[in-house]
Amino acid sequence: MTTPDLRADGLSLAYDGEPIVRDLDLVVPPGRITAIVGANACGKSTLLRALARLLGPRHGAVRLDGRALQSIPTRELAQRLGILPQTPVAPEGLTVLDLVNRGRSPHQTWWRQWSTADERAVRAALAATGIAELADRPVDELSGGQRQRAWIAMAVAQETAVLLLDEPTTYLDLAHQIDVLDLVVDLNRNEGRTIVMVLHDLNQACRYADHMVALKDGRIAAEGAPADVVTAETVQDVFGLRCRVALDPVSETPMVIPMGRHHSGVPVRSSS
Ligand SMILES: Nc1ncnc2c1ncn2[C@@H]1O[C@H](COP(=O)(O)OP(=O)(O)O)[C@@H](O)[C@H]1O
Ligand SMILES: [Mg+2]
Repeated sequence: MTTPDLRADGLSLAYDGEPIVRDLDLVVPPGRITAIVGANACGKSTLLRALARLLGPRHGAVRLDGRALQSIPTRELAQRLGILPQTPVAPEGLTVLDLVNRGRSPHQTWWRQWSTADERAVRAALAATGIAELADRPVDELSGGQRQRAWIAMAVAQETAVLLLDEPTTYLDLAHQIDVLDLVVDLNRNEGRTIVMVLHDLNQACRYADHMVALKDGRIAAEGAPADVVTAETVQDVFGLRCRVALDPVSETPMVIPMGRHHSGVPVRSSS
């Protein structure tokens, strides 16, 4: 896979009224895993959608290898960049296999409709997400977690150099959350894919991301390695949450321990 250069320059995004993202500059580190974090409604999904051209800029641009996304033919863009939206909806009755097969459509042409490479990619994506045995089941009959993995499988089968994931762990129990995040690391390490994902859980973001972007009101409040970004001050600023930051004993990355109104951080019973 060629190394993608994905960046936003002076990007402003809006729906109808006020801008949601304002004058944002971002260079996505190629070949790395980037996590976008921030409070509810701060503009994470909006930014991710713009990085995939699902939303056009009001000002500025998103560029892939120097070209504005708006100027790249749809098929070519879909060969380079895949997105898992926050709440994807499958047509009624569509099976898991149909859905994952759709990930291959950017690679097909009228003269070459289905190849062994397509077959291989679909089988690998089903295996990697652990849903091979669900291939013939309708997507709308699956549990939330199974459905989420089917969508991830589709994005994996697309075999794009850039993969954008909006809260890929939603609906998953903790074990499956870790499975999905481990899979993301595999895709990054083994296949060199550039990953940008919105993550809700700060501690998981610290563990799984090389690069972290903390958004506040549509602007970048802090950016860099998780150990530099996730401090008690930044968490207070970005999330309005008082916390302690400890070291995750498993991954040795920052671990946010919230305080709340009923805990001051001073032990209630002291042994001394
Ligand atoms: N399709 C839309 N039309 C109008 N406003 C929207 C739309 N999608 C999101 N918004 C608004 O944009 C803001 C940012 O939303 P979003 O990017 O989804 O936040 P996040 O993903 O950080 O929770 C919110 O105030 C939300 O209500
Ligand atoms: Mg969102």
